[in-house]
This record gives sequence, C-alpha cells and structure tokens, in this order.
Amino acid sequence: MDENGIRALAIASQDAHAAFGGVVPEIAAREHIRSLDAMVRHAMREAEVGHEDIAGVGVTAGPGLVGALLAGVNWAKAYAFARGLPLLGVHHMEGHLFGTALEHDGAHPPFIGLLVSGGHTLLLEARAWGRYRLLGQTRDDAAGEAFDKVARRLGLPYPGGPQIQRAAERSAAARSAAAGGAAGRFRLPRPMLSRRDRPGDPAYYDMSFSGLKTAVARIAEQLEEEGGLAGAVDDLAAEFQEAVVDVLAEKTRRAVEQTGCRRVVLGGGVARNSRLREGLAERLGSSGELYAPSPRLATDNAAMIAAAARFRLARGERSPWSLNAEAALAFPGLA
Ligand code: KG4
Ligand code: ZN
Repeated sequence: MDENGIRALAIASQDAHAAFGGVVPEIAAREHIRSLDAMVRHAMREAEVGHEDIAGVGVTAGPGLVGALLAGVNWAKAYAFARGLPLLGVHHMEGHLFGTALEHDGAHPPFIGLLVSGGHTLLLEARAWGRYRLLGQTRDDAAGEAFDKVARRLGLPYPGGPQIQRAAERSAAARSAAAGGAAGRFRLPRPMLSRRDRPGDPAYYDMSFSGLKTAVARIAEQLEEEGGLAGAVDDLAAEFQEAVVDVLAEKTRRAVEQTGCRRVVLGGGVARNSRLREGLAERLGSSGELYAPSPRLATDNAAMIAAAARFRLARGERSPWSLNAEAALAFPGLA
C-alpha cells in the first residue's frame, strides 16, 4: 500500500490514438474490452487481494465516450453480480475530486472545486462530499480540449496539453536568455473576464475557450502567410497558456472570495499543467489553500473512481443492475 492508501493502480494507455491526432471512439471501446480482464487480475495480484477481499465494485458510468464506458460498466456488472457484490456507478468528474483528496488530508469539504479535463471545465462549491453547487462552467470547449486543439493548429502532437506546456517553457527560457526580448510578442484575449462582471451574473464564473482557439488560429494563419509560424510557436503557445491560466485562476479567486471557502481542490488532466498550479497559487495568495493532484492522480485513473465509490458504498448507496453508461451523465448531488 502506498502513502495514500492505494494498494495497486494499473493503467493501460492506448497509444493507438496518437497516429489519428485524437481519441478514436471505436478503438477506445475495443481496447477497453481487450485489456479490462487482464488489468483487474494484474491489479489484484499487485495489491495481494483475492476476490473474497473485495467489498464493492466502482465503475465510471459517465460522462464520456459511450462505447468505452459501456465496456467498463458491463464488466463491472458481470463481476459484481457473479460475486454478489454491490455495484457503484461513479461520475467521472466527481472522481477527479476524490483523486486529489486521496493525496491531501486537507482536501475535504467545504471547498471550491476546479475541474479541468479534456471534456469538462467546472467550478463548483462542495458543501459536503456528494453535495455540490455548480458555480460556473465552460460554455463551449473544455480547457483541455482547447489545449489539444491549439496544439494541433500549431503543429504539435497529441495530446496537446503537455506539448503546449513544454513549448511555453522553451519560450520562457528563450525570453530570459534574451533579457525580456520576446515578452509581449503576442497578446490574446481573456475570454469572459471583465472587471465589469458582477457576482450573480452567470458570466462571473462561466468560461469560454473556443474564441481563444480561433484567435490563435488567426495569428497562426497570418504567420504562415509571412512564412514565420515555426519560429513563433513557442511564444504563441506561452501566451495561450497564460490566457487560459488567467481565466481559470481569476474565476477561482472570485469563488473563494464570494463563498468564503478557503480550500481549493484542483482536479483533472489539465491539473498537470505546472503554470496553472503556479498561477492559481499566485492569484489566491494568502486567501486560499490550493490542493493539487500529482501527475499520477491528475490523469484519468481507477484509484479516484474507487475512492468515489468507497464514499458512496459507505453511505449505503447501490447502483441498480440496470446501471447504464451515459455520455452526458449529470454531475451528482447538485443543489
Ligand atoms: O482528465 P483527463 O486525463 O482526461 C479526461 O477526462 O478528459 O484530461 C486530459 C486532458 C487532455 O486534454 C490533455 O491535453 C490535458 O488533460 N493535459 C494537459 C497537461 N497534461 C494533460 N493540459 C495542459 N497542460 C498539461 N501539462
Ligand atoms: Zn478525466
């Protein structure tokens, strides 16, 4: 068992998607079916547990690609039914909150949750585990999706998030070598961020990243016409990352100020972005405490789903055998 109470954490990455520049739903579903059984056996061996040690089966029921979700839900149903165990369908994004909590004792409600993944961007207030108030969300692209799309437009490989971060780091290194030479070369908008926003307006917490992607594309196009995109990719990536971080950090700061919740729990794949963690910490200053996941638990993983399922199991919840995979499953416990 590790220091977070995780006995084993098996991850099967699907490299097959990279060649297509994104996740191919059909391949994802088939790979899940192919690897699930062996993965569970592998994890149980590593954890040194037998079937009789299992108290319940947690599984992601949504949201996401329905084919991949169905593979997991059906496997979990079959296993739980055969062993007479409780089945617990988990919401993927609630899982991300539990993922961060696994690593930090301080990450307990009440807190402000900032969830940033490839499919979702949510700002919420957690009053208790399982009881949430949605403050804001993206009106179009998720933050991770914007990273991936911008990376693609700049000719960087999939997944784009880590590539943008690396390009931004190169830009910062070049800038400090040139003593500030390239600073401010590009300036992108900060969508839905205005000093005129007032608490109570939906725009106070909502976000939008699609226009940012378009703004990058417009600059890229112009640079291509001038024959100079390659030399500008790092600086453009850096400014894009700054814009996303500015928006996310300021919306989160507002939430802390308005709710009086000091603790901020960050979750989702984009939480791997070190500039985001830095920007949040800077913006919160001494008015908030930031709890961010390590890269291992920021990225989609089964430990976070198990943690969310354990909470619901302890409360006596059970999912019915008719549990279905839902592509657009609603966040649970919203007031
Ligand atoms: O939560 P996650 O692993 O899967 C989903 O639930 O979507 O998040 C994946 C997303 C991708 O869009 C990926 O580009 C982004 O997280 N990501 C990053 C970084 N590492 C992963 N985005 C920005 N900076 C990173 N270092
Ligand atoms: Zn995720």
